[in-house]
Amino acid sequence: MKKPKVLLTRILPQPGIDMLTEQVDLEVYEKNEAMPRECIIESVRDKTGLICLLSDRIDKEIMHAGTNLKIIANYAVGYNNIDIAEAAKRNIYVTHTPGVLTDTTADLAFALLISVARRIPEADKYVREGQFKGWEPMFLLGTDVHSKTLGIIGFGRIGRALARRAHGFGMRILYYEPKRLSTTIEKQHSAEYRMLDDMLRESDFVSIHVPLIDATHHLIAEREFAVMKKSAFLINTSRGPVIDERALVVALRNKDIAGCALDVFEREPAVEQELKTMSNVVLAPHIGSASVQTRTQMALMVAEDVIAVLIHDQKPAHEVLTDLRLQ
Ligand code: GLV
Ligand code: GLV
Repeated sequence: MKKPKVLLTRILPQPGIDMLTEQVDLEVYEKNEAMPRECIIESVRDKTGLICLLSDRIDKEIMHAGTNLKIIANYAVGYNNIDIAEAAKRNIYVTHTPGVLTDTTADLAFALLISVARRIPEADKYVREGQFKGWEPMFLLGTDVHSKTLGIIGFGRIGRALARRAHGFGMRILYYEPKRLSTTIEKQHSAEYRMLDDMLRESDFVSIHVPLIDATHHLIAEREFAVMKKSAFLINTSRGPVIDERALVVALRNKDIAGCALDVFEREPAVEQELKTMSNVVLAPHIGSASVQTRTQMALMVAEDVIAVLIHDQKPAHEVLTDLRLQ
């Protein structure tokens, strides 16, 4: 029997590639760059499976070219890059990688929180530049993390994993969701529900863990920065457009908030130039899930879903949920 043809738009950890090549006819875009859109359109024509990245916009045009597609497997948990309605219309399964990257992403969110509060990138730069001449009583004084109030926007898997870390630091946890969660979940995570503005008003740190959907686009913008404490720090490891990045620059410039730490950007990979000049800003290049273990798990997960659909004619295990909590 002829093997089904699958396109993979970027090299992934080898165990995933090995699992795929055993069962399918895999075409991999081997260059160390995002696969150009024209190349995806050309190459998807004879494929029944497509494995893509969060930076590949998979829309009607691509699905129209890939008329034989049965599955689009996104190598990410967030899937705002895929036109889900269009895929549903065409009976194409869409899968993602939930669960495996929850703790890894929460680790990064907490690392960013501590980095910006304790000014670690500034300190690192100082030592490397040979400026460390002796202990100083008044230099690089940051903000305590322990015992502070952490506001978590989006209390799903990653938001709750962040809460578990924050409890170790004796932080008080507030969470916001459009709908209040059960008291069982609240008790389990010792988290108190707040409406968004109340949370912003009370929190010393605010961390975002929502998917990007219409309702979360620019969820944090000029009005919200005005509500936040002047001493507050904002952390984002979700999707860039949840924050109005230009309004963020203005808020930082005007000292409406104390600082921010970002792993994601509104016009990724572009970053507002002024952010790069501010010492109270920590920047990372979208590395939330970037550990060897997690990226390997994610590669196995996309391979498993593609094989389930194309070889075993089964429903994939990690189909996206279209009944998003936050819709
Ligand atoms: C990364 O941002 C992901 O959605 O997996
Ligand atoms: C994402 O996986 C989330 O639910 O936080």
